[in-house]
Amino acid sequence: MKKISIIGAGRVGETAACIIAQQEMCSEVVLLDIREGAAAGAALDISQSASYFGSDTRVTGGTDPALLKDSGLIVITAGSPRKPGMSRSDVLDINLAVINSLVDEVLKYAPDSLLLLVTNPVDVLTWHAWKRTGWERGRVFGQAGILDASRMATFMAEETGLSAKDIHPLVIGGHGDAMVPLTRFSTINGAPASAFLDDAAIARINERTRHGGAEVLALRQVSSAYIAPAAAVATMVDAICHDRRRILPCVCNLDGEYGQTDITAGVPAILGRNGIEKVVQLPLDDTERSGFQTSIDSVRADLK
Ligand code: 2OP
Repeated sequence: MKKISIIGAGRVGETAACIIAQQEMCSEVVLLDIREGAAAGAALDISQSASYFGSDTRVTGGTDPALLKDSGLIVITAGSPRKPGMSRSDVLDINLAVINSLVDEVLKYAPDSLLLLVTNPVDVLTWHAWKRTGWERGRVFGQAGILDASRMATFMAEETGLSAKDIHPLVIGGHGDAMVPLTRFSTINGAPASAFLDDAAIARINERTRHGGAEVLALRQVSSAYIAPAAAVATMVDAICHDRRRILPCVCNLDGEYGQTDITAGVPAILGRNGIEKVVQLPLDDTERSGFQTSIDSVRADLK
C-alpha cells in the first residue's frame, strides 16, 4: 500500500500513525485534523522518531481534506470520545454528523479507497458510513473485536499465569456492554482456554472484557484507552497492507451471516488487501447465539 490517511489526530489516531510508520506498513501516512497544527505537529513528532526505528515512511499532517487524495486506506478516528459514566451510544448524535461530513470528503478525494471506522459507537457509525458511500460492503468496516479480544487475552493471562502471547481469544457482537466473549472458541496455543479456567474465572474474565474500555476510562478520567485501540487498528492495517488474509474479529456489514441482515457488528472475517473478503461463520451454541442476538438488538436500537 502506498498511502494511508488517518482522520483525527487525537490519541488513537496519532498512536496508530506512529505504529504504522515505525513498522513501515506503507510509504506515506497522512494525518488529518480540523484543529490547526494538531495533525502537522503529531506528524512532525512521529517523523522525528524515524531514525530510531529505521523507517522511511513519510508522515505528514494538515487540515485540508484534499490531503486524502490517492489514499488506498482511510482510517477514521475523529469524533467526540465518551466521558466517564457515559456509554459509547451517548456520543452517537454528535459523531454521526462528524462521520457524515468526513465520508463526503472521502467520496470526493479517495473514491477508490477502503474505509476503516474507529469512532464510537463504531458498529452504528460503520453502518452509516457504508450506506453513505454506496460501496460494496467489504470496503467499509470497523475496528472493535481485536481490541476486545486483546483485553480478554490480558485477563486470561492474569487468571492463568500463562503468556498473553499464546492466548487467542474471540469476542463477537457490538462494541458495547452486550458484546459476547467466546471462551469456547478461545485457545491457548491450540489447547482450549477453558481447560485452564474454572467457571468463576471465566465469569470474571468476561465481565472485565465487556467493560474493558470503561475500566481504563474510569481510572484515567481525562482520556479513553488509546494504546491498545491504536495497536488494534495497526493490526488491521498490517493485514490489509500485506494482504495477509488473517482471520480477525472485525466490524462487518452482515448480509445473512449469523441470520442477520442490514446490520453491522463484530464477527470473525478474512481481512486482506480488498478489505473484508469473507465473514467466517462459527457454529454457535444456543447460549452464544442468544448472547449475540441480544448484542445485535442493542446495535439495532441505536440504529433506530
Ligand atoms: C474502548 O473500548 C474507546 O471504544 C474504545 O476503549
